[in-house]
Amino acid sequence: MQLTDEETRMLNGEQGYATQKSMEILVALGEIFGADRMVKIGSAQISGVSYHNLGDAGLEYLETLAKGGGRARVMATLNPAGMDLENWEALGIDEDFAGKQSHIIDTYERLGIIPSCTCTPYLIGNMPLYGEHVAWSESSAVTYANSVIGARTNREGGPSALAAALTGRTPNYGMHLTENRQAHVIVQVEPELRDVPDFGALGYAIGKKLGNEIPLMTNVKHASLEELKSLSASIATFGGTPLFHIEGLTPNITTHPTEKIIVEIADLKAAETALNDENAELDFVSVGCPHLTLKEIERIASLLYEKRVKVEFWLATARHTKDLAEKLGYVRVIEAAGAKFACDTCMAVAPLKGRFKTLATDSAKACYYGRGSNDFRTKFGSLERCVEAALTGKWS
Ligand code: F3S
Repeated sequence: MQLTDEETRMLNGEQGYATQKSMEILVALGEIFGADRMVKIGSAQISGVSYHNLGDAGLEYLETLAKGGGRARVMATLNPAGMDLENWEALGIDEDFAGKQSHIIDTYERLGIIPSCTCTPYLIGNMPLYGEHVAWSESSAVTYANSVIGARTNREGGPSALAAALTGRTPNYGMHLTENRQAHVIVQVEPELRDVPDFGALGYAIGKKLGNEIPLMTNVKHASLEELKSLSASIATFGGTPLFHIEGLTPNITTHPTEKIIVEIADLKAAETALNDENAELDFVSVGCPHLTLKEIERIASLLYEKRVKVEFWLATARHTKDLAEKLGYVRVIEAAGAKFACDTCMAVAPLKGRFKTLATDSAKACYYGRGSNDFRTKFGSLERCVEAALTGKWS
């Protein structure tokens, strides 16, 4: 790899231990993937925040970097943590876990990382420009950044995203290169897509059919931010591609592949069936995967107005979004109904194994992680169905 003089000084340790360690990680990655050089990045988004995933070894590594003078050189935000940083007791998190989690967040702050703790950084001010190189790690956010915004990022691991934040650089390979961002297969989408779960089911169907090949979807007439957020999450979860194109909707320019497949209504139905377990006894409803927008919170408030939930109901969102919802009066209505905000966290990264049996959600990705991380059975449907389930204790 060709390094600039400054990058060489970083690698030689002239800018401190943390910068040196970070540059070593990036150079090793670049050499593995055949990068020719580093590119400067506009921002970083770092996963590996929950104590549930990071553990003591991860915390120790962060401490070493903080003691070694590490400091973010670009805007850098955090993925969700294992708990609501202010309201963890109400969500049933134990004190030991809370202490370790707070220590992790403090250490990231010492490194100059913004403790935003959200998987939708683009909703709270970490918003790249079209064509800008960034180093993000949360898969749904990576796919949204590449596909909907037109920024350029690989799906970083937590350590490489942190190394990029501390140096302001990332190796130039993969999604940073124009030739790797071209569509492989045209996907003609036959059904009309009506709501967020339809887009989640579409991501499931395409992911299962194409794996990590990049689709160019045609015949999708419109899509809201919330629907594209859901599609980004599910296509990355069930397939692995960090980029999709939608003709007429997404901004990237791509060549037109010759291979073509069709997604039919039966494919969406099959996705829905696969994500709905039979005979599941509902005891937990959680929406906000990826984190809720203000518009979604407004909708939930209108559905819960002067009502009372019967089962545990969590709304996962960024604290910044909740603060706005508070100003608009939505939080008061939602909490009066007995629902709980889970800011800074979500049902996948919080330590919930054994606490609930069945999760109802409007997110295909939440079904995948609810099953995998927490052994939940799952019910998958619209936001309206989820709120109804929370109010009645039944899935209808
Ligand atoms: Fe976000 Fe958690 Fe879903 S990190 S994308 S809410 S699994």
